[in-house]
Amino acid sequence: MRSDLLVVSASQLITAPPGEGPLLGTDLDRPLLVEDAAVACVQGKIAAVGKTSEVRALYPEREAEHVVDARGLLLAPGFVDAHTHLPFAGTREMEFDARARGESYAAIAARGGGIRASVRHLRVVSEESLGNSISARLKRLLAQGTTTVEAKSGYGLSLEEERKQLRALRRAAESSPVEVIPTFLGAHEVPDEYRDRREEYVSLLRDSMIPEIAKERLARFCDVFCDQGVFSVDESRRILARARECGLGIKLHADELADVGAASLAAELRAVSADHLLHASPEGLRAMAEARVVAVLLPGTAFTLGLPYARARVMVEMGLAVALATDFNPGSNMSSSMPMAMTLAVTQMKVTPAEAWMASTVNAAYAVGEGGRLGRIQAGYEADLVLFDASDHRQIAYHYAEEHVRMVIKKGALAMDRAESYKSA
Ligand code: NIG
Ligand code: FE
Repeated sequence: MRSDLLVVSASQLITAPPGEGPLLGTDLDRPLLVEDAAVACVQGKIAAVGKTSEVRALYPEREAEHVVDARGLLLAPGFVDAHTHLPFAGTREMEFDARARGESYAAIAARGGGIRASVRHLRVVSEESLGNSISARLKRLLAQGTTTVEAKSGYGLSLEEERKQLRALRRAAESSPVEVIPTFLGAHEVPDEYRDRREEYVSLLRDSMIPEIAKERLARFCDVFCDQGVFSVDESRRILARARECGLGIKLHADELADVGAASLAAELRAVSADHLLHASPEGLRAMAEARVVAVLLPGTAFTLGLPYARARVMVEMGLAVALATDFNPGSNMSSSMPMAMTLAVTQMKVTPAEAWMASTVNAAYAVGEGGRLGRIQAGYEADLVLFDASDHRQIAYHYAEEHVRMVIKKGALAMDRAESYKSA
């Protein structure tokens, strides 16, 4: 049969075993590994995967439009980065410096830095210049193997400014091979002008911002920073109930700074994911496991801020679907590298390299509501593939802070080719 793209002779292929659903418990550490592997792609989708000889028997090279010889390379699904704050303006290296001198993230936020500093930066840039910076960031994350990225607003904190962020994001996404999943995070912080009237800001979110954003289809999910000093469980519940009425999916920044019961709220609302969870209670986590809320862990944030890491091992043992993401943002983690997130998960959270791969691909796809379409190299799935200069999957997290990505394929089409080795057959 004919194929649009045939990747052959990969040293090793890693993906979730054939099946459905996120990988839970001990299954997280049992990926499918194939040596001398091949993948055939037809019309942007995966048509066959297996040993090179098996795939070739069905999809011969002479009937392939393009053939990639992957000898010596590792073949993996594109990363799904399930939590970023990609559309930001300006940077906050002065806060990075201040933390090195002993000031905490919370203290910096309390004196007007933190999210509010990024809000001031965002409000003075044009939609066009914001779009240009987002495009540049998308290029970088693609070069690190990310083919799908969730991206949150939350530095505008008014209808106009949030809309500007989401429109700039949409524009940048249109000209990038990276698939962008937009999330409205108007409840990231109470803006300065509503500081003494927070209830009015909650009403503004419910009555105007959420319905407008949903109507314009600028976001697929609504997220709330439900934590100490930010939005309470009660406020978050009211905001997210409105989001659900307007047809948005639900996500939460949950219990990052303190245990406020956000994990339990995520379970109660059957959120798609609850993220951070550094201080989540065992009861909250158990409720999440029962309600099948994906736990998105962000080790880069704990690393940057010097906070304790989320208890990934406990969560896996409790049967939670655990995913990894970067949390790329200018305050608490200025890195869009999924390989680095995997390294931190392995070294600091005692997640195995195989688990880190599964948490960054198959489980991460479930964290953005795309588990049936993305994150697996399996027939029928989107052909999102990455070739790494490595012969074994463990080398990526182990040989950290180095560039290993050789080629990226999104929806069966070439998206990045470092060695310019992609040729017509
Ligand atoms: O996920 N926790 C809340 N929001 C971001 C930080 C955003 C910022 O500092 O700008 C986070 O860590
Ligand atoms: Fe975040």
